[in-house]
Amino acid sequence: MAPRRTKVYEGKAKILYEGPEPGTLIQYFKDDATAFNAQKKDVIEGKGVLNNRLSEFFMSGLNAIGVPTHFIRRLNMREQLIRSVEMIPLEVVVRNYAAGSISKRLGIEEGTALPRPIVEFYYKDDALGDPMVSEEHIIAFGWASQQDLDDMVALGLRVNDFMSGVMMGVGIRLVDFKIEIGRIWENDYQRLVVADEISPDSCRLWDIETGRKLDKDVFRRDLGNLADAYTEVARRLGVLPRNANNVTKPTLIN
Ligand code: C5P
Repeated sequence: MAPRRTKVYEGKAKILYEGPEPGTLIQYFKDDATAFNAQKKDVIEGKGVLNNRLSEFFMSGLNAIGVPTHFIRRLNMREQLIRSVEMIPLEVVVRNYAAGSISKRLGIEEGTALPRPIVEFYYKDDALGDPMVSEEHIIAFGWASQQDLDDMVALGLRVNDFMSGVMMGVGIRLVDFKIEIGRIWENDYQRLVVADEISPDSCRLWDIETGRKLDKDVFRRDLGNLADAYTEVARRLGVLPRNANNVTKPTLIN
């Protein structure tokens, strides 16, 4: 259980608490899974532990190659210390292959390779169902500036290159993913950083050989055990020991 402290925000899959120092927060990963704007809900034992560790893996890898993120360090099985940022109210989706909403909207068969990575923006608003928005909307409504937009596209593509390469190395195709971006103010100067989480909750990951889905579509589409799929991703990345098979109580390597 998380110790008693000030809760700053509670979302569908995570809770934010006040951090130990100004400018920091503690991000707690819950086991709750939701899909279709929370119309489908369940508790998947162990999911929070896996996502905490996987998000640490991806975010610290990004930090190491100079892509700024909010991640500072993992604190324990379910919590990580992050920098407090001002969230931009957009979801940035990058797609390499057609799947999900782009397949539906444009009638492209799932799995079709796209001519180049496609970056899309969605306005974060549960009541509206996170509608897709254009750069025109974003600038006209003041959600981000033209410079922010350019930086967000660049960040999305750098994350895509990194994540695609890492996943390819373990036999997994990065079909698409979603990131959220925040601003950090340093005096009058702002910079954008990757925030929230990067995990199989927010990516589509397909086994290259078999096409097996190793992401939240397993839950959305009732394709099997979600924790098993995430455990497989973690194992391949070396985040869990190869012989770990008790998905409800994942063992960390360090
Ligand atoms: O549903 P759609 O095809 O637009 O999703 C694209 C990618 O963004 C998927 O990897 C999905 O998991 C992710 N996503 C997300 N949170 C949302 C919407 C999409 O993580 N609210």
